[in-house]
Amino acid sequence: MSKQPVTRRQFLTYTLTGVGGFMGAAALMPMVRFAVDPVLKGKPKGEFRPTTEKVADLSEVPKRVDFSYEQVDAWYTSQVTETAWVYLNKNKEIVALSPICKHLGCVVNWENNGEFPDQFYCPCHAGLYTKDGNNVPGTPPRGPLDAYKTKVVDGILYLGKPGPNPFVK
Ligand code: FES
Repeated sequence: MSKQPVTRRQFLTYTLTGVGGFMGAAALMPMVRFAVDPVLKGKPKGEFRPTTEKVADLSEVPKRVDFSYEQVDAWYTSQVTETAWVYLNKNKEIVALSPICKHLGCVVNWENNGEFPDQFYCPCHAGLYTKDGNNVPGTPPRGPLDAYKTKVVDGILYLGKPGPNPFVK
């Protein structure tokens, strides 16, 4: 086997190709990482979010409970605050209603209109809901308020995603 000497031109070609490839890979890595980063991150644990509300403090009177959590949307992380109206019904079940009106999405409040005691009132178009979240016929909303899924961990209320209201028959 004969050994052929490497010419100066070949040496330069190999060296520049190697260095160029290394530099190209180094430049591409952050871009690739940025593109696939959300895929590499794990999903949030569980669908329930903790509130600061002790279940022992709940009563039969709806109470406004605000809770916050971090929301990851692809590359963007933001702090989200949601609200629920929470109380214990006659069967001592925890009821956590979404405050979002089922007419056009305004925010309802409990007993904030003296004319309608014991009801949720929507100030935008005078929508009314009974305590269990059922829409009062003859007012604009066409369906009951959504209800959050609930869970209790160490005496603290956790809320899941709001969905169809199981307390309205
Ligand atoms: S948005 Fe609530 S009644 Fe219209």
